[in-house]
Amino acid sequence: MTDLLDKPSRTGARTPVDIDEGALLLELEPEVGRLYNRHASMAQEWFPHEFIPYRLGRDFDKEPWTPDQPRLTGVAQTSFEIGLLTEDNLPSYHRLIHGMFGKGDGAWLNWVGRWTAEEGRHAIVLRDYLTVTRNIDPIALERGRMTQLQQGYDLDAPDTLHGLAYVTFQELATRIAHRNTGRYSDDPVADKIMVRIATDENLHMVFYRDVLTAAIKLEPSAAVRAIVDEVLNFKMPGAGIPGFVRKAAQIAKAGIYDLKVHRDEVLMPVLRHWKIFEIGGLDAAAEEARRRLAEYLEKLDLQIARFEERLAFSTIPRIAAAK
Ligand SMILES: [Fe+2]
Ligand SMILES: [Fe+2]
Repeated sequence: MTDLLDKPSRTGARTPVDIDEGALLLELEPEVGRLYNRHASMAQEWFPHEFIPYRLGRDFDKEPWTPDQPRLTGVAQTSFEIGLLTEDNLPSYHRLIHGMFGKGDGAWLNWVGRWTAEEGRHAIVLRDYLTVTRNIDPIALERGRMTQLQQGYDLDAPDTLHGLAYVTFQELATRIAHRNTGRYSDDPVADKIMVRIATDENLHMVFYRDVLTAAIKLEPSAAVRAIVDEVLNFKMPGAGIPGFVRKAAQIAKAGIYDLKVHRDEVLMPVLRHWKIFEIGGLDAAAEEARRRLAEYLEKLDLQIARFEERLAFSTIPRIAAAK
């Protein structure tokens, strides 16, 4: 969620991979079916209303919201706002996911439906929590939602492999951002909600990561090129929210999601899982992409060091070390 706009080695547009998309989706279908069943056996049913402290609720017509009411302040409040507005944009994500994976009537489509239904809970529980606790102005929140949904969201992923790589990184990034937002809030109710959502996001990540693991075996060169493109061009889905760059900078300074978190907790665990630097038999274009990835990761070290030097001048409290 940090401002990743000024990161090094941006390549600009993603390059579509030259493979038969329909054949790849079809070949992956049995594995998608197996991973869907695994997901369904691991995912626990949960109910947003059980997480909300309704005893704190008061009627807004009798007692309107005022700025002195929130217990969450500063970056904790900003991070909840960005988190909810990002989850709110589910109609756009559904359109994209359906466009990429919703072909046919088999396992892919089952996943698209299941994933969408699970994601829907996230905005429900966040909005209910923020409204009942009066932690954010509900009018500003609703106006933010209207702006966000009318603007919509588009992902410039030209094909299945790019799409799979993007959603793997994005689900993990969202998991970490939500988890750290909960911890930063210093509110046990908020923390419990964020742990619950983060658990969902993790299972989503694991599903996409493992579908792409199967795709690497089928199309190693094309998959490596897609992964590298997505690492080099990564942007959070909330990047279109008004004031996002300023808010993301605060969230980075707070340590909820900064470049170091992005590298150490999102990029590297997934790249290591795919054994990206050990995949053999790549064509020249994929080898070249892998070289650019190594170069990018090296430059990221410098970028992180510079950010940490600048932190000395920040007045925003940093997140406490993970317990
Ligand atoms: Fe979500
Ligand atoms: Fe998710």
